[in-house]
Amino acid sequence: MYRMKQPWSLGTLEIKNRLIRSATDEGFATPKGAPTRRLIDIDTELAEGGVGLIIAGTAHISLEGKWGDNSIGMDHDDLIKPLNQLCKATQEAGGILAAQLLHCGATVNPETLPERGALLGPSAMTDPLFGHPVEALTQDHILRIVDDYAKAASRAKRAGFDAVQIHCAHGYLINQFLSPFRNSRKDRYGGSLENRTRLLCQIYEAIRGAVGQEFPLFIKMSAYDGFPGGVEPYEAARTATIMDAMGIDAIEVSAGTPEGSKKGGWDHILPAPFEEGSMFKYALLIKEKVNCPVISVEGWRTPQKIEKALEKIDAISMSRPFIREPDLANRWFEGDLSPAHCVSCNKCLKLQMATGIACVFHDK
Ligand SMILES: Cc1cc2nc3c(=O)[nH]c(=O)nc-3n(C[C@H](O)[C@H](O)[C@H](O)COP(=O)(O)O)c2cc1C
Repeated sequence: MYRMKQPWSLGTLEIKNRLIRSATDEGFATPKGAPTRRLIDIDTELAEGGVGLIIAGTAHISLEGKWGDNSIGMDHDDLIKPLNQLCKATQEAGGILAAQLLHCGATVNPETLPERGALLGPSAMTDPLFGHPVEALTQDHILRIVDDYAKAASRAKRAGFDAVQIHCAHGYLINQFLSPFRNSRKDRYGGSLENRTRLLCQIYEAIRGAVGQEFPLFIKMSAYDGFPGGVEPYEAARTATIMDAMGIDAIEVSAGTPEGSKKGGWDHILPAPFEEGSMFKYALLIKEKVNCPVISVEGWRTPQKIEKALEKIDAISMSRPFIREPDLANRWFEGDLSPAHCVSCNKCLKLQMATGIACVFHDK
């Protein structure tokens, strides 16, 4: 396995190999968003397991943008110290840890719906996932959100994270602005692709202003929302080109949204059975258009197929396989090249919401 082991650069950061743990919200933070001992142990175990880059579970930039009850937070200075313990433990175990920043918009954890008022989005509508009212954000409110992203990124840097990823995928707020299905605004945030990309560009610039040019900053985007009328691949490629020109350090390419599956398309966490590498075409489409490194996520399980993909792409990322086998990278590097043991049953997802993440088939 030659390519998987090659180092690569995420901006100023050298990553020792091409296997990445894609952001995975483990559901093991305190209600205020501080990591628990269990979460520190999970990330430490991943670091010891040899993965090149760990993208931490998504962190809310503000309380209104919080997806669920037990995700980590980046919305308050009080969280810097506890998050620093997570960073330190992971780095001491040999890991590199990125924070992923999120405002969830209207795509909330369904369990939290009863305690929420109207959901927030680019345009007023009845949310297709929940049948709940969505309220259109005002321009002032949008600017507050941009500022919240910058403050959250500054906290992530001060807490000791090695990089920041902006979550613009999976139907959350930035994805909703990008989507013509969700965004019917008539102002400078709606209409043309340039207008729908404005929120992302403003967030990028505000974060750059807060963390500096040298700090590694990358995005995760859905190259296809999973249904016609949402974000489509040709538009996603143009958004990627805009971000590349602005100086983004890498793009992780996903596809699908929770509403995709409701609309007869697909979700971003594909349940078995699926064809391994079926989402790769979207990453390739973006790779053709940009200069920055591109990472492909979704359904990678077999080292030989990953090795082949790495002929055309810079790195691949996985989520569910590392829940079952935190030491998967080392297993492959040490020569056991059987596919990941993950069967993509998605029981880990149900557990994440109920008790915190676990694999019902965990090998140990
Ligand atoms: C339990 C669980 C939690 C997840 N949490 C996040 C998250 O916080 N942020 C994110 O971008 N994606 C999240 N995802 C999606 C994964 O990062 C990934 O895009 C998806 O699972 C497909 O990759 P896989 O086939 O390797 O699992 C989560 C997935 C699972 C199963």
